[in-house]
This record gives sequence, structure tokens and C-alpha cells, in this order.
Amino acid sequence: MNATLPTPDALRAALAGLLDGLPPTKAAQAVDRLIASYRGITPTDAPVLRDRADVAAYAAYRMPATFEAVRSALAALRGASPAWRPATHTDVGGGTGAASWAVAEAWGGEEYGETRDGTEPGGDGPGGDGPGGDGPGGDGPGGDGPGGEGRADTAGTDADRLRQSPRSPQTLPTLQALPTLQAPRTTVLDWAEPALALGRELAAASGVPGLRAAQWRRARIGGALTLDPVDLVTVSYVLKELTEADRAALVGAAARAAQAVVIVEPGTPDGYERIIAARDLLTGAGLRIAAPCPHSAACPIEPGSDWCHFSARVSRSSLHRQVKGGSLAYEDEKFAYVAAVRFPAEPAAARVTRRPQIRKGQVLLDLCTEGDGLRRDTVTKRHGGLYKEARDAEWGDPWPPA
Ligand SMILES: C[S@@+](CC[C@H](N)C(=O)[O-])C[C@H]1O[C@@H](n2cnc3c(N)ncnc32)[C@H](O)[C@@H]1O
Repeated sequence: MNATLPTPDALRAALAGLLDGLPPTKAAQAVDRLIASYRGITPTDAPVLRDRADVAAYAAYRMPATFEAVRSALAALRGASPAWRPATHTDVGGGTGAASWAVAEAWGGEEYGETRDGTEPGGDGPGGDGPGGDGPGGDGPGGDGPGGEGRADTAGTDADRLRQSPRSPQTLPTLQALPTLQAPRTTVLDWAEPALALGRELAAASGVPGLRAAQWRRARIGGALTLDPVDLVTVSYVLKELTEADRAALVGAAARAAQAVVIVEPGTPDGYERIIAARDLLTGAGLRIAAPCPHSAACPIEPGSDWCHFSARVSRSSLHRQVKGGSLAYEDEKFAYVAAVRFPAEPAAARVTRRPQIRKGQVLLDLCTEGDGLRRDTVTKRHGGLYKEARDAEWGDPWPPA
């Protein structure tokens, strides 16, 4: 697969490949069956994703949406801590790896999508065809992941970039202080072997270096779960499948192991309640909330009266259209999330908690604020530049924009 595809397109292409040869009605039936079991009583004692057909259907149907939800949550974390980037990442209950794809996109290494000077990696500049052209996981030394013996080579690429940079040398860190930007080293943990196998297959086909180097390991979430120290833990769409005790064990293990924990759940009232319970455990363990909340104090929503959730736009695949009917080219994935950290973060002063209502000459913004809790601001033309910003504001954005 083409490593120059942006991650969402690479995901789409990998998923389309999964369904090749599978009769559309078969895929749709598998999705129907899975939706029914996910609607049923969870948690379960055994994996719901039992075989490859289940997993392929789940992946093709759900991965684009869970990917977009996690992507939004990670964007909010990056907004609060722009200088931070994880070197290591564990995706617990990671299944086929949707959150890992989002992490690979958010902090993709130089090999794939990000350079220090804003040039396209692998472009015309020096090093374009040099080491890393194939990404780590290529055939050369250090192919098993970042931090391998390939480092000296990539430092050479940095030197070339420094020489080429239009910025003055004083503004640039010294070479010794300039670590190579590498995609986080990801480990995906799950108890469903078929999900791990398919995740590994998709990742290998992705062309995305951070994903191709990922480790896929069997692990059961429960009281006995321990996680190795890691920069970032993601837990996406998993808490619903666990008993309350296992949820607490997982969140506790994540809080002990990680510098940052990002948890995503469906944007339903019960998904929000699980996020709030997890948020309490995370702050109780000494982490601070980086997003979406403007503070780490109690959530101002009166229990049962409302639920905090956001929306991410997802292009619909043909499988989606087949299962759900209708001809819309997209749908909106509603999700709730929390990102908590042990390092400095600057949460938004306020966050837009509903789709802004645009009226004639004014915009109504529902906000969660640091000082006033929930508040509605009316921004009118009289507010000048802020009015234009309000017209552009989207549900989930920080307010006012940075
Ligand atoms: C709804 S899927 C979400 C998968 C993935 N995180 C995503 O966002 O697409 C829930 C995942 O949690 C895993 N899971 C549920 N209970 C588990 C347990 N007790 N131990 C390990 N994994 C578990 C399932 O196998 C499944 O892969």
C-alpha cells in the first residue's frame, strides 16, 4: 500500500481490501449480527469478536467511526499540550487498532508525515530517497521499530534539513538536542485473537511506519491487568464491555502506567457516565484533565440532566450504506471522551458543547467554562472579529480560538 496516503485514506483503502471477495450480503449480515450482540447485555465472559468474518465486518463497519472519534480526542489533547509527543503508546482493548491508527496519524514520524521544517517527507529535499524511505519496519537494520540501529542514519537526515532550513541557526536546537521525530511505538492489547490478527494484517498493509512496527498482544482486562510504564494509553469503546470492577482496574492501571490517558466512549448518556467515572478515577490518581474540560474540578452537568458529548464526521462506506440504508455520503459519530495527563497542559478556557446556532447577525454558543460552568454566550456583529470566529466555531472547539 502507498505510504504517502494520509492515514484516514490508508485506513479506508485497507478496509476496502478486507471486503474484497466477501459477498456484500454476507458482510451486511455479519454487521447486523454484531450490532445485535453489542446491543445485548454486556459485559461478556468471552470475546464478542469470535472469528475473522466477525472481525472483518466490525472493522469495515466501525473502524472509520472509532478512528475519527479518537482522532478528535487526540486533537484536543494536542491542543492542550502542543509540545508533547509520546514515544510509546499502549492501546488497551485495542481490537483491530482504530485508536492506534489515530495515534499514528497524530504523532506520525518524519518517515511518514511530519518534518521539522514543514517540508514533505521523502520529497525533493535531501534524504528523500535515503534511509527511512521505507519507514522503520523496512528491511534495513532497526526494522523492528523506532529506536533501533537506524538512528545514526536519520540523524544525517536531520543535519541535511538543518543545512537547508531557511530559519536562522539561533532559532534551531543543536543537533545533539534534536531527537529524530519518530512515530510512537505502539502495543495493542486485546483478548480477542482474531481481532489482533486482523489488526496486525491491516497495520502491515498500511504503509504507515508507526503501525507496521506495532506489537499485537493477547491480554485480558481485569483485576490482574498491569501495564508497563508508557507515555500514552488509549482506551476506545471498551469500558462498556467491562464490569464496573474491571473498568476501575483498567483505569487505575492506565493511570499508574501512563503520562497521558485518553478514554473514548459512545456519545450516549451511559457512555458519558462511564467517562465521568473514569475521569474521577484519573483525577483521584493525580492526573489533570487536558480535554475536553476547561478544568479538573467536578463536571458542572447535573447527573441525569444532560450528557457531555461531541461529534465527528465520518464518510460512509458502501457497507455502511448497505447496512443502514439511505444515500448520505457521511454520518456523524457521537462520542464522549476524556484526556488526562501528568505533564503541563493548558486546557481550553471554554469548550463549545453543542453545535453552534447561527441566527441572523448572531451566534449562540453553548460553552463549558472554567469559571462559570455551563454558559450560553451570544456573539453578535458588534463583537467584530470574534463574531467571525463564532460563525466558524464548531461543536467541540476551544473557545475563544487560540
Ligand atoms: C467495541 S471494541 C473496540 C475496539 C477498538 N478499541 C476500537 O476502538 O475500535 C471492544 C474491544 O474490547 C475488547 N475487550 C472487551 N473485553 C475485554 C477484556 N476483558 N479483556 C481484553 N479485551 C477486551 C474486545 O475484544 C474488543 O476488541
